[in-house]
Amino acid sequence: MAQNHFEPDSYLEFVRLEIPEYDELEETVAEAASASAAARILDLGAGTGETARRVLERHPGASIVLVDSSAEMLAAAREALAEDRVESVLVQRLEDPLPPGPFDLVVSALAVHHLESADKQVLFERIAGVLKPGGRFVLADVIVPRDPGLASTPVISEFDRPDRLDDQLAWMGEAGLEPSVLWTNGDLAVIAARRPEMAAA
Ligand SMILES: C[S@@+](CC[C@H](N)C(=O)[O-])C[C@H]1O[C@@H](n2cnc3c(N)ncnc32)[C@H](O)[C@@H]1O
Repeated sequence: MAQNHFEPDSYLEFVRLEIPEYDELEETVAEAASASAAARILDLGAGTGETARRVLERHPGASIVLVDSSAEMLAAAREALAEDRVESVLVQRLEDPLPPGPFDLVVSALAVHHLESADKQVLFERIAGVLKPGGRFVLADVIVPRDPGLASTPVISEFDRPDRLDDQLAWMGEAGLEPSVLWTNGDLAVIAARRPEMAAA
């Protein structure tokens, strides 16, 4: 996404221009997130709270932990979300250790592509570690499509580091998660990955 610093006030207008499928992608995340009950949710790269708002609507009894490296974006998220639905707001990088689990649900939209490949792998392992058995990770992001002609999201190389879908599915599998692809559109994808009830022997 062709901006290395997001402004909360203009974020929605900006992202809808860059990604015309933004609302469809967010709704797909929220639908996927509603597939099973959740009381405690983690949102990684929460930004202004758009993903969290839609996910919380589908889980009326749940509370959420928001993580983002931008204090400004998180301040906007705090304003957008009901106070009693937000457990905590953490200004930290996705490359850093995650807040302690267990979580029933981890969601992340349009943020993980900012990480290097190796950091994505570590993040998926950490997510598997904080998910409850039977819990879900829903990832929506920019990917490198098989056909380069399908890439339409503007990217800047020092800030955006999308990876191939197959690689990310493999890394989730290596982390002990069971991923399935729910939606793709050009260079965008939504994946739901379940932590099995029992670890494989
Ligand atoms: C495109 S916005 C997505 C926000 C929200 N999830 C949504 O879908 O509208 C990307 C967010 O990721 C955050 N971000 C980028 N790199 C990050 C990193 N390494 N660690 C934590 N947050 C990061 C940015 O501050 C920004 O709020």
